[in-house]
Amino acid sequence: MPTTAVSDVRSDRLKALPPFLFDEIDRKKRERIAAGADVINLGVGDPDKQTPEFIVQAMDRSMRELVNQQYPAVGGGLGVFRQSCARFMQRRFGVTVDPMKHIVCCIGSKDGIAHLPWAVTNPGDLVLVPDPAYPVYEIGSVLAHCRVHKLPAGRESGWKPDFASIPGAVSQAARICWVNYPSNPTAASADVGFYERLLEWNGSTWRADGSRGCVAASDVAYSELYFEDKPVSMWQARNASIDETMGIEFHSLSKTFNMTGWRIGFAVGHPAIISALAGIKANVDSGVFNAIQVAGAAALDRFDDAAVQAMRDLYRKRRDVIVPALRAIGCEVDNPGAGFFVWARTPLGKDGRPMDSMAFAAKLLEQGDTVVVPGAGFSPAGRDYFRIALTVEAERMAEAADRIRRINW
Ligand SMILES: Cc1ncc(COP(=O)(O)O)c(C=O)c1O
Repeated sequence: MPTTAVSDVRSDRLKALPPFLFDEIDRKKRERIAAGADVINLGVGDPDKQTPEFIVQAMDRSMRELVNQQYPAVGGGLGVFRQSCARFMQRRFGVTVDPMKHIVCCIGSKDGIAHLPWAVTNPGDLVLVPDPAYPVYEIGSVLAHCRVHKLPAGRESGWKPDFASIPGAVSQAARICWVNYPSNPTAASADVGFYERLLEWNGSTWRADGSRGCVAASDVAYSELYFEDKPVSMWQARNASIDETMGIEFHSLSKTFNMTGWRIGFAVGHPAIISALAGIKANVDSGVFNAIQVAGAAALDRFDDAAVQAMRDLYRKRRDVIVPALRAIGCEVDNPGAGFFVWARTPLGKDGRPMDSMAFAAKLLEQGDTVVVPGAGFSPAGRDYFRIALTVEAERMAEAADRIRRINW
């Protein structure tokens, strides 16, 4: 058979995705590791500790049952998992929901986030994405052939979009508006007032006959990693009503319970949106392995377990090492009250300006064997910022800060 040289098989929609800007840093990291360097990786947002034992044991028991080895329940997930989600919403946020109407189980929150546009938009519809933001809001929209409008959410506005300043025509055309607090990458948090402003604006986008409007989509994947005030749910807003407000909120078990590899999360929202998302999922995947749902239910029922508190304490200890160390070397940084990340301004370069984050990250890897994520990879608004994940031990954090200090920027 003659072979044809195939240069690029990618679809237009795949080619339309924003470029992955970390390839170069990734390549250099692998080179340094292969050369035997002691690389400190502050880039990966993946917990460095094991899933708590009680969850592993629940999995061990449930995976042996035949019913759990068969296709998972379609249509939103197992009742036992959804009931735990509802109890979690009640106990943690004081929000009452109906497990079968308001909750859908997801293969990690990323699955739900990426598929939401398939469920509630048509090609050409407009999706509002904060800038900077976790890239999947834009990626899911582009894959569903939506247009993306970036909402400035920079330092001046506390890393939050200002809904009152969205032009009327944009508000009227928008079909989804994403928000994410505690934020990846900016580590900013939001209070109930923020969600009340979001829902007030969102309500104003609906026509009187209810025929068209925007879905408020909130991602709270980091809600349980807090050091100061507990993050809130959009559903706590005084103007929120789960059966009337066009909103959906995404939760994740990944970081709370060190379960990133298990792939389980859930969405809680208006019944019509939940049912639309469940409809897409029923057609493209067959849900999360039942045994993982049973283990996930056990996890959520113990969201206040000592093991979860211990993780918060550990991340706080690491934060309390890296933030002062970065300040001591002249990096501007807000002490994050929640989340998984520290978002810091780059040190001043030779021209007296904060360095370009790409150049900073590259030099830090070359001369300090330390990986950070350049803010420019998220947005031009992140040009002079870098992101650190709190996923290495405090001593290594201190060593990383020392390596930054020793470099002549
Ligand atoms: C802001 C944010 N949302 C959602 C996710 C997806 O998490 P998962 O799919 O593991 O629930 C991540 C993962 O890094 C994230 O940073």
